[in-house]
Amino acid sequence: MGKSKMAIETYEVTLEPSGRTMIVKEGQTLLDAAIRNGIQVAYGCRHGSCSACKCQVLDGDYEIMDRVSEYSLMGFEREEGFVLMCSTLVESDLVIEVEMEESNTAFFPVHDFEAEVVENKQGTHDIHMIKLRLTDPLHIEYASGQFFEIDIPGLDETRAYSMANKYKEGNIVEFHVKRVKDGKGSNYMCDLHVGDIVTGSGPYGKMQLRDREKDLLFVAGGSGMAPIKSLLEQLFSEPFEHKAWFFYGARTKNDLYLTEEWEELAKQHPNFHFVPALSDQDNPDEWNGEVGFIADIIGRNLENMKNMDAYLCGPPIMIETTCDVLYKGGIKGNNISFDEF
Ligand SMILES: Cc1cc2nc3c(=O)[nH]c(=O)nc-3n(C[C@H](O)[C@H](O)[C@H](O)COP(=O)(O)OP(=O)(O)OC[C@H]3O[C@@H](n4cnc5c(N)ncnc54)[C@H](O)[C@@H]3O)c2cc1C
Ligand code: FES
Repeated sequence: MGKSKMAIETYEVTLEPSGRTMIVKEGQTLLDAAIRNGIQVAYGCRHGSCSACKCQVLDGDYEIMDRVSEYSLMGFEREEGFVLMCSTLVESDLVIEVEMEESNTAFFPVHDFEAEVVENKQGTHDIHMIKLRLTDPLHIEYASGQFFEIDIPGLDETRAYSMANKYKEGNIVEFHVKRVKDGKGSNYMCDLHVGDIVTGSGPYGKMQLRDREKDLLFVAGGSGMAPIKSLLEQLFSEPFEHKAWFFYGARTKNDLYLTEEWEELAKQHPNFHFVPALSDQDNPDEWNGEVGFIADIIGRNLENMKNMDAYLCGPPIMIETTCDVLYKGGIKGNNISFDEF
């Protein structure tokens, strides 16, 4: 097809072996084009870190973005034409080899959006709970567990933030953002005022509630509470007969938030167990709950995990250590969904 005569140049990308084609705009990543065309391919972080979106270019010109490290895409892979779809810009018509996913999750179309800040309150000393009201479009349907990409003024790149509430028409979208020292995106979000306008796109992400007909395990650390809260809101919005556990890891009591809401939910639903745990609480007079790393605490509390589904969200070390415990407990890899940040 070649370059079009439009102001923004477009290229045709052929996906082998399916033969499906998609149009990619200049400046748009291969992954963004695939998602917006409803093409289901594997992906995770969307920022060149997790390598989940690796594919091979068979023909054509392209540019791999600087954010892709040697670790995410090694030198010999680059020489063989491998790229990360989330971090590759197209410079001519392309042919790529990529496996389509047999997805058991719902697909919701991606929209660019504009929204107004309606609330910004602190959950802890460094986590803000921010509510946006979508103004254009007025609704964007998403699955609990998914995230939006937010435009950060002064930055070329967006930042991902998970929705903390279940989708509901009239669309107030809630985010929990942890302020990272010198972090441009998190400080922008935490410093938003009521009435400010925020832009972005979404929804993205594959962590979605898959199966309600079994016991479920939810694990979060820090602002990883956000997608887990949304998933639990969805779970308990309909009758749920099985057991659900929510293990929440924080460093000290000052890092806990929304605990009263979870305790209240546990009172209403005897099949729901909330276990907050502190890793750095050395004064037993101040805390009589679980103490230690969340992975060890899960191992101590749950004996048979064989038939469970698990949903995890938190820092990489928490995900890694928790997955180790879950594998030892008998959970299979494809029964675990996670987002790490
Ligand atoms: C799928 C997905 C969903 C996400 N959802 C959420 C969410 O719901 N809530 C949320 O708070 N964050 C979430 N994040 C993380 C978020 O996208 C940003 O990475 C984070 O806010 C830091 O961005 P920044 O611009 O403030 O920091 P940057 O400017 O990117 O980094 C500043 C410094 O902080 C370090 N740093 C970066 N990220 C972190 C981190 N998470 N913790 C500690 N240090 C860090 C960097 O190494 C750097 O030194 C999510 C990320 C992904 C991939
Ligand atoms: S590297 Fe994580 S989605 Fe592309």
